[in-house]
Amino acid sequence: MIALACDHGGFELMGKVKAYLDNAGFKYKDFGTFSSESVDYPEYAVLAGQSIVLGDCARGIFICGTGIGMSVAANKIPGIRAALCFDNFMAQMARNHNDANVLCLGARVLSANTALGIIEVFLNSGFDGDRHARRVGMLTELDAARC
Ligand code: RB5
Repeated sequence: MIALACDHGGFELMGKVKAYLDNAGFKYKDFGTFSSESVDYPEYAVLAGQSIVLGDCARGIFICGTGIGMSVAANKIPGIRAALCFDNFMAQMARNHNDANVLCLGARVLSANTALGIIEVFLNSGFDGDRHARRVGMLTELDAARC
């Protein structure tokens, strides 16, 4: 299950993302927002992020205007590793090296086609483990130290 979150800046693109996910056979849970009315992105990042930490969802796709606000908010949730990606290589590395569980996208800085391509790479790439597992483990220790 994929957790979806967006603000008004990401609302239009999120419609296209859901159509892509439907077509590709991915299941998702949409935590909003559900219109282009102005809202505050941290609320939606927290709702969707918590569903990942609790194990209800495995990964997330969070979209705002730039992707920056969503990624900053998501990375404040212990257990979330959110990656703001601009191209397929970043999405590949985010999964291979960082075991990112949230992909953040900027609807105002990416074409829809580029965004969907990044999503495809993110959802179909795995974690390489090995030395990267040690580093990701250190990130988990940082989460614990912050509590
Ligand atoms: C909303 O105008 C915009 O600030 C938001 O979508 C996002 O880009 C924040 O990082």
